[in-house]
Amino acid sequence: MESDLESVLFTEEQIRIRAKELADEISRDYQGRDLVLISILKGGIIFLADLSRLLTIPHSYDMVGASSYGARTSSSGHVIITKDVDVPLKDRDILLIEDIYDSGNTLFVVRELLDVHTPRSVEICAFLWKEKKERVREIPVKYIGFQIPDVFVVGYGLDYNQKYRNLPCIGILKKEMYT
Ligand code: IMP
Ligand code: MG
Repeated sequence: MESDLESVLFTEEQIRIRAKELADEISRDYQGRDLVLISILKGGIIFLADLSRLLTIPHSYDMVGASSYGARTSSSGHVIITKDVDVPLKDRDILLIEDIYDSGNTLFVVRELLDVHTPRSVEICAFLWKEKKERVREIPVKYIGFQIPDVFVVGYGLDYNQKYRNLPCIGILKKEMYT
């Protein structure tokens, strides 16, 4: 699988270290609060699983389903909610866990969905933050793992056509893999 990559942006080791740093920061910030991590299916669950185990404070987690990409490498701009949350969110502190902040469409739609449940607070934690000249939706992202250029990446939950999610590193896919 790794041979399908043009280059590795972040190794498994770098990802582990950064995830731990974020977890320590979140553990400090949410001390004594009623934290619920909400991850966005499917890309966010790998990071959620790591982050949850690295947090040193009590919390629960749930998932929402949102889908915007088909077998393409750029967002369709059309986000479909495929699963709502199952746990009550009223008056609780929500931290949305996302693999990547790209156009902002997904996070915008999911945030709107969560607001309906009237939580006490909602913040966003995105493992990757893509630099964009123009973004469809500007949303404040409180916790960011790494900033990356506007390139298509796979691994650590991120897929191309449902493949490569299980790559332990994050890298840029060779062009010939999707042309
Ligand atoms: P947005 O709605 O454009 O912000 O896109 C968010 C979703 O698109 C993410 O949750 C990813 O699933 C997917 N996505 C965005 N950029 C990439 C990428 O570089 N590689 C793989 N998936 C991506
Ligand atoms: Mg996704």
